[in-house]
Amino acid sequence: MSDDHDLALAMLRWQVEMGADEAIGDAPVNRLAAPPPPPPKAAEQRAAAAPQVRAPQALALEPVQESVSTARRIAQGCNSLEELRETLARFDLCPLRATATNLVFADGNPDSGLMFIGEAPGADEDRQGLPFVGVSGQLLDRMLAAIGRDRTTAYITNTIFWRPPGNRTPTSLESELCVPFLERHIELVRPKLLVLLGKQAATVVLESTEGITRLRGKWKTYTRNGLDLPVMPTYHPAYLLRNAPAKREAWRDFLEVKYRLESTSSV
Ligand code: URA
Repeated sequence: MSDDHDLALAMLRWQVEMGADEAIGDAPVNRLAAPPPPPPKAAEQRAAAAPQVRAPQALALEPVQESVSTARRIAQGCNSLEELRETLARFDLCPLRATATNLVFADGNPDSGLMFIGEAPGADEDRQGLPFVGVSGQLLDRMLAAIGRDRTTAYITNTIFWRPPGNRTPTSLESELCVPFLERHIELVRPKLLVLLGKQAATVVLESTEGITRLRGKWKTYTRNGLDLPVMPTYHPAYLLRNAPAKREAWRDFLEVKYRLESTSSV
């Protein structure tokens, strides 16, 4: 065998080791001698020169966190329920405000010791600017009456202060922007106990991912901002309207609330 042959074999072996183990053309190409690639088009050049753009999630997250911090600072600065209501009426970082007709802040007696928290206003609430005035509200009124209460002896609000269009479930951004106001709302009312109506309220107030079927009927504690309040999660009246058999469990939850309030000398 000639030296040339040995050399060619050695080069082939080396190429295979380097991963070039497949022939893709009949004639060899000397890449070092090939003409340089064409210059990039103008748009590609501009893109290459532009500063590195961050991932869209990172861009979206920053303003959200800033808005939530702003909401927290503003809410904490409110020292009365009236101030909180007026501040919310001017608060324009929550996109729901733009599509709602009215702010839905609260109804009832804040000194009653008993605070109900629902999900979000519906069409009737949006029109009237009051929580639970539609069919769910009528059922809630009957449930209140069953434990000897009405809106002069109970206080009612929601986790969300404006109606989500089409009654859709509030997004996590909408919830996050309302939470600081809800927390301040609870702080300013300082009820003897909280009743959470449905999954959204339970999720937001208890920071729990458990379903309402598991949560309901068991006393929990709200321990935020120095408060230590008993909490009763129960079904949302809208759910009870669709599932009449669940009313029996809700009735039990309401009785629990009644007994607990009686044992803590409520109004
Ligand atoms: N459902 C709610 O959760 N809140 C209301 O105010 C009305 C219906």
